[in-house]
Amino acid sequence: MGCSWFSCRKSGGKPSEVDGEIAAIDNVKIYKYKEIRQATDDFNSLNKIGEGGFGSVYKGNLKDGKIAAIKVLSAESRQGVREFLTEINVISEIQHDNLVKLYGCCVEGNHRILVYNYLENNSLDKTLLAGGYTRSGILFDWSTRANICVGIAKGLAFLHEEVRPHIIHRDIKASNILLDKDLSPKISDFGLARLMPPNMTHVSTRVAGTIGYLAPEYAVRGQLTRKADIYSFGVLLMEIVSGRSNKNTRLPTEYQYLLERAWELFERNELVDLVDSGLNGVFDAEEACRYLKIGLLCTQDSPKLRPTMSTVVRLLTGEKDIDYKKISRPGLISDFMDMKVRGPVETKPEEVNRHSYTNPSSSSNASSNSGTRDNSNAYSSGASSAYAGNTFSSTI
Ligand SMILES: Nc1ncnc2c1ncn2[C@@H]1O[C@H](COP(=O)(O)OP(=O)(O)O)[C@@H](O)[C@H]1O
Ligand SMILES: [Mg+2]
Repeated sequence: MGCSWFSCRKSGGKPSEVDGEIAAIDNVKIYKYKEIRQATDDFNSLNKIGEGGFGSVYKGNLKDGKIAAIKVLSAESRQGVREFLTEINVISEIQHDNLVKLYGCCVEGNHRILVYNYLENNSLDKTLLAGGYTRSGILFDWSTRANICVGIAKGLAFLHEEVRPHIIHRDIKASNILLDKDLSPKISDFGLARLMPPNMTHVSTRVAGTIGYLAPEYAVRGQLTRKADIYSFGVLLMEIVSGRSNKNTRLPTEYQYLLERAWELFERNELVDLVDSGLNGVFDAEEACRYLKIGLLCTQDSPKLRPTMSTVVRLLTGEKDIDYKKISRPGLISDFMDMKVRGPVETKPEEVNRHSYTNPSSSSNASSNSGTRDNSNAYSSGASSAYAGNTFSSTI
């Protein structure tokens, strides 16, 4: 019965144990390690589709005929069975059209494996940002891109505003946006931070890979609110419209950072120049520039000024207008490589300076913001201390 659906509502969401074996958990399918091995042809490297901060990902064929993305969590992510399953149970209950579906997991011995719905058209970093049509064969025309942006915004608005307790994704980036056969976007890896043992503070390498998406107040001060996700979304939005990564060292120095470039063009009223030339001029210029401006709104230095995700959805769809004059400079972090992730308590003001938190906006803005929490979201102090380990349920 290893691969049947378990349902155990009476257990109140907690896994029930029989003679030390996991017998049941709400909604979550428990896979035998043997089935996972068979599905991936013994983790054959030919079936490996990715390697991320949490471990390796394989494509696999499950016994029931489904194709799955199988994420083998690294040793660091090993939690006790009970805690692991409790978290998995929470994640598996979160379902939305724009979120990747978790089929189940495997928790035999030391193994901690997640089994997800496999998305046919890969992630945005390996398709759109890796050369678009020429590389992936996927035609990212303007309406496809607009649809992807709105879908991601809806998925994130759902995590932020509808799920209780709210979920901060913390790792919104192009590789966590997967596309199904119809190019509808699905956000992946939400809730993964919950699977990290609370004492695991060494997340700096994981964060380093995605630093271009990190909101300054989160990267430097460990101030984690939904507004940090909204910043990352803003970066992603600009990547989708421009068809380039947030950082591109092959470009001339002054063009390397997408946000800097976007701000410069915005000030000159030439944002349209940032729209992907791969669209061959076939796009709705008003809409594309609006999207870029929404990206700028989301990446403003002051978290309070960034809109909520439900507002972003309405801005994208044109149900709500933007007051362009109010957009302030994006918050940027430089000196990426040396940055160490640390808890906010130990971060002294002089260290903030050393880490080159460049705040290009007015100094009054900076001082009113520093050391305070993002009141617009009014998270508890647990939110920021959760920075290095649990990044998930830091909401009230
Ligand atoms: N559900 C999925 N369907 C298809 N491909 C996936 C899926 N999940 C992950 N991948 C692929 O595996 C890669 C690595 O994923 P992951 O381990 O989450 O690392 P990261 O998101 O940090 O790049 C992704 O970039 C994507 O190409
Ligand atoms: Mg991922």
